[in-house]
Amino acid sequence: MQTPTASEDHSTIHHDFTSEIETGLLAQSASISPKFLYDALGSHLFTAITLLPEYYPTSTEKNIFTQYQAQIAQAVGTGGTFIDLGAGNCQKAEFFFNALKPSAYVAIDFSVEYLQEAVKKLAEKYPHILMQYLGMDFSKQLLIPSSVATTKRTFFYPGSSLGNFLSTEALTLLSQIKGQAHAGGLLLGVDLMKEDSVLIAAYDDPLKVTAAFNLNILRSVNTHLGSNFKVEQFRHVVKINHAEHRVELYLEALEDLTVSWSGNSKSFKKGDLIHTENSHKYTTDSIKQLLTNAGFETTQIWTDPKDYFAVIYAH
Ligand code: AVI
Repeated sequence: MQTPTASEDHSTIHHDFTSEIETGLLAQSASISPKFLYDALGSHLFTAITLLPEYYPTSTEKNIFTQYQAQIAQAVGTGGTFIDLGAGNCQKAEFFFNALKPSAYVAIDFSVEYLQEAVKKLAEKYPHILMQYLGMDFSKQLLIPSSVATTKRTFFYPGSSLGNFLSTEALTLLSQIKGQAHAGGLLLGVDLMKEDSVLIAAYDDPLKVTAAFNLNILRSVNTHLGSNFKVEQFRHVVKINHAEHRVELYLEALEDLTVSWSGNSKSFKKGDLIHTENSHKYTTDSIKQLLTNAGFETTQIWTDPKDYFAVIYAH
């Protein structure tokens, strides 16, 4: 077995997110970046969300991957470097190893601790694939280090995580992917627009797992900022913004309250909102247009019978 390598020094970077969080909280319309949803508990709560029957994206994408695996493999081709953006437990990428036969696998995620474990297990199972992992906040900039082979890079970005970016940010990320794919391309999963009732059930589930996931961002912020948010003073709110084609998540203050942290504070009136996440929903035409704008020349699309979700290969 080849030992998985941490690519360059990104794994040791210690981020200081204090000023980013402060700026969002102190703005007139308060917001917290969705990346703070994914602390250790938040990552587990997200995994629980993907198991909910109401949260259709994960199971629908998996069905598309399974049904069209051979066609997808034919479009992507075999060999080359498979670069997994937001790899998490690396399970989605592993599904394609036998069909795509990559010579190298690069797992990239915000939290490197989680990755290290997952990649180590994969390296034992697939000793012929060179394994690398990399901690990176690619919401800021995607910069693949020179230690990653340039031959036919296939970027893998499943789960409609692209939808958590504003369209300008999504365009920047897709352009950066195109610029670093060399002779390869992008295998992408995106959620499609659908009736409100399905979206509301998926983002405000009756077991309240999504509510816990959203509220937990306050504890994650307390850890980073040293603030004193109390989870019980807020509630989870979901809105559908039809004009912007997205589901929006908020936390609403249940009473007048003040949150403080070193040298600073923010007061909320009952009913005030903190914006925590956007989840954009596309049409097959709108995602094709976005990919074209990012410089991709051809796209192949696979969907499910209800047109709930789309898997795309673009190059
Ligand atoms: C990770 N991302 C694609 C999820 C989504 O559907 O936007 C995050 C999520 N938020 C609430 N439920 C799931």
